[in-house]
Amino acid sequence: MRVAILLSGGGSNMVRLVQSMTGDHPARPVLVLANDPGAGGLEKARGLGVPVSCVDHRPFKGDRAGFEAALRDALAPAAPDLICLAGFMRVLTAGFVTPWQGRMLNIHPSLLPKYRGLDTHARALEAGDAEAGCTVHEVTAALDDGPILGQARVPVQPGDTARSLAARVLVQEHILYPAVLRRFASGDRRVLHLP
Ligand code: GRF
Repeated sequence: MRVAILLSGGGSNMVRLVQSMTGDHPARPVLVLANDPGAGGLEKARGLGVPVSCVDHRPFKGDRAGFEAALRDALAPAAPDLICLAGFMRVLTAGFVTPWQGRMLNIHPSLLPKYRGLDTHARALEAGDAEAGCTVHEVTAALDDGPILGQARVPVQPGDTARSLAARVLVQEHILYPAVLRRFASGDRRVLHLP
């Protein structure tokens, strides 16, 4: 199975996904695609020997259809079977998502269905939640929605800030996403619960 990974930032989840796809793993990374030429993940992907590409979203201001057409064009030569969103911070419309439904995964730093969108850790702390975490789910046209494939729970500690909580959740993201990808690529769509 050929996997394309889309990102916007540092790409630590991408690194873990790429490193996981070796040996008897049923998938291989074929492309890392960013929407920002300055995304640190591009350099990391190059270092890992994965082909990279970039579609800068900024020239497409107000033209989501144009941006998504350019994304499709950038993906096509790599012929992916599966797309993994890994810190990809652009909202994708139904026009892009629907043809990929059932073949596109995302990781979100909350225990969905809680806290879709941004600032998840601050919102969990504000709500006085005893636990936070992360979710891997199939991508549908609705934001941070779609069938849940795995969740990892992280206890909130006294004195936690959004930053400290995010750091502990990220450690779990790095475990959860590769684990779910391996299962998913093997055809196993049961929900994985960590720890
Ligand atoms: C992760 O927390 C991911 O869940 C969120 O953005 C962050 C990306 O981190 N959507 P990285 O680029 O994988 O290091």
